[in-house]
Amino acid sequence: MFSLVGKVAIVTGAGSVGPGWGNGKATAVVLARQGAAIFAIDVNEAAVEETRAFIESEGGTCVTRRCDMLAAEEVQAAVAACMQRFGRIDILVNNVGGSHPGGPVDMPEEVWDRQIDFNLKTAFLGCKYVIPVMEAAGGGAIVNLSSVAGLRMGGARVHSAYSASKAGVIAFSKSVALGYAKKGIRCNTVVPGLMHTPLVEHRLVRQLGANDAERLIAERHARVPVGHMGTGWDIAHAVLFLVSEEAKYITATEIVVDGGLTASAPV
Ligand SMILES: NC(=O)c1ccc[n+]([C@@H]2O[C@H](COP(=O)([O-])OP(=O)(O)OC[C@H]3O[C@@H](n4cnc5c(N)ncnc54)[C@H](O)[C@@H]3O)[C@@H](O)[C@H]2O)c1
Repeated sequence: MFSLVGKVAIVTGAGSVGPGWGNGKATAVVLARQGAAIFAIDVNEAAVEETRAFIESEGGTCVTRRCDMLAAEEVQAAVAACMQRFGRIDILVNNVGGSHPGGPVDMPEEVWDRQIDFNLKTAFLGCKYVIPVMEAAGGGAIVNLSSVAGLRMGGARVHSAYSASKAGVIAFSKSVALGYAKKGIRCNTVVPGLMHTPLVEHRLVRQLGANDAERLIAERHARVPVGHMGTGWDIAHAVLFLVSEEAKYITATEIVVDGGLTASAPV
């Protein structure tokens, strides 16, 4: 089950912002374990090299590419390089993204623009250059990464641009899915909840936790109905299912991976 032998997968943001397992890094490893050759994209060469080294240490295949997913010409060149190296692209995981707090009054316009680009344009550009390759080959599977921030507005923290852009990712995925349903291309979204990825220690502690990592982590665990945050591996396994042949009838929808968070009342 869930074999990806013979397939080629592009994973964007396949490094991690700090030591440990981000969603993209874990996804690259899980897809490689199932037999896919990984074309791992990241703006941070050192981060994505770690992913490559890990995959190769397990006997998998991984090629890295430094590429800013916000720069169209770099994305186009990366897709061409993947085709040159592997001759096919079966899977695209658009994982680049991240949040910045604030509402419309306090958020500078350039932060708003950057958030929309970071979360939405990166998925747009990935699709823009990969879909023609998939279409020519008769099919493919795309997964875009959203966030529960695009589904529910709970808690004290306002991040209007993140919520709007991650809700946009869900709509974008559905629109791509319907546009290419007859061409054999499926497109779905994975919606992470509170995940304990390196982002928590690397950025959120500074942004939200007044540098008190332990307190912030305990608070995040406590907010989730199952009693703890998820991990990058939980996201990776949802992505694996959606890109596998076993999910061949699943398109234009999303899997929420949040330990019950979106179904619960805001705390
Ligand atoms: N971590 C969470 O708790 C959480 C929760 C909800 C949603 N998400 C979503 O999951 C996705 C991945 O999150 P994460 O925390 O695992 O990632 P991360 O912050 O660890 O970043 C992964 C990689 O993306 C790379 N990257 C950043 N900008 C890039 C660009 N312009 N082009 C190419 N690479 C770039 C970074 O260098 C990094 O190696 C994001 O879309 C995020 O919004 C994460």
